[in-house]
Amino acid sequence: MEIIRTVSWMSQVARESRAKERIVGLVPTMGALHEGHFSLIRAAKSECAPVVVSIFVNPKQFGPSEDFQKYPRAFDADRAALENLGVDYLFAPTPEEMYPRGFRTTVAVEGLSEKFEGRSRPGHFHGVTTVVLKLLEIVQPNRAYFGRKDAQQARIIRQMALDLNLGTQIVVRPILREPDGLALSSRNIYLNADERRAATALYRSLEAVRQEITSGERNPAHLLAALRRVIEAEPAVALDYAEIVDAETLEPVVSLRGECLILLAAKVGKTRLIDNALIEQDNGTFRVTL
Ligand code: PAJ
Repeated sequence: MEIIRTVSWMSQVARESRAKERIVGLVPTMGALHEGHFSLIRAAKSECAPVVVSIFVNPKQFGPSEDFQKYPRAFDADRAALENLGVDYLFAPTPEEMYPRGFRTTVAVEGLSEKFEGRSRPGHFHGVTTVVLKLLEIVQPNRAYFGRKDAQQARIIRQMALDLNLGTQIVVRPILREPDGLALSSRNIYLNADERRAATALYRSLEAVRQEITSGERNPAHLLAALRRVIEAEPAVALDYAEIVDAETLEPVVSLRGECLILLAAKVGKTRLIDNALIEQDNGTFRVTL
């Protein structure tokens, strides 16, 4: 595996691969890699060669009082894991390389970026779309891989790729979870033992909605009430938002129709966690995927 630190070398290497008509895959990450990231990389490996993984803790997507400084960094372990997975290139630029002095551009996907995570974290998605567009321009991959763990992020990036005619296919992959249901996240290491136990309430609340739907409940307000009951039974968990939305528009729905997402965010102690489930309808039967 070759480690690449500069934008110019990364774009040249990728350009040479494309000239040989190879299928270039990109998996953007902020490092502190876990099985969730690995699942994206394995998918990329099965469909692309070469595979580029980027590790860049993007300062522009953290608010002034957020955890940019203390965000976990584990470069040596990450590098070894990527080597084992057979990744071809690790792109790990410095902040100065990505945002040189004088950098002035912001990419904004309007309408989808201001709600939910965007409301709780103003400017967050502008930072995400700015860095992801840069990565997509530098590598110009055939396919780029994202997790449904960050469902709103994936939806916004898909819209950006469509709106800006990016030549990259955006692939969105399922959520990887711990055996007790907690969605894998680099931020889970912030949780102490009690918080780690309490954090399963997010998954359990989505599971409660799934059970309600299986028993025939279709009213989003009743489904969300079932979700809230699970969260409220866990004093260490404070709900930020929970909503059932249309998967395309991210607007709250009054009835289950087409593809919907149950989006939620909660604070467990000082740590903010997000989770979601996908509701699909097929000939009148509903499938809920956590
Ligand atoms: P990061 O949080 O490192 O996540 C990188 C990718 O891994 C994202 O697409 C995310 O959705 C996916 N991922 C994280 N946890 C997952 C899980 N449990 N199951 C499946 N996929 C999971 O998301 C970012 O970084 C950044 O915002 C980034 C897109 C790299 C831009 O800076």
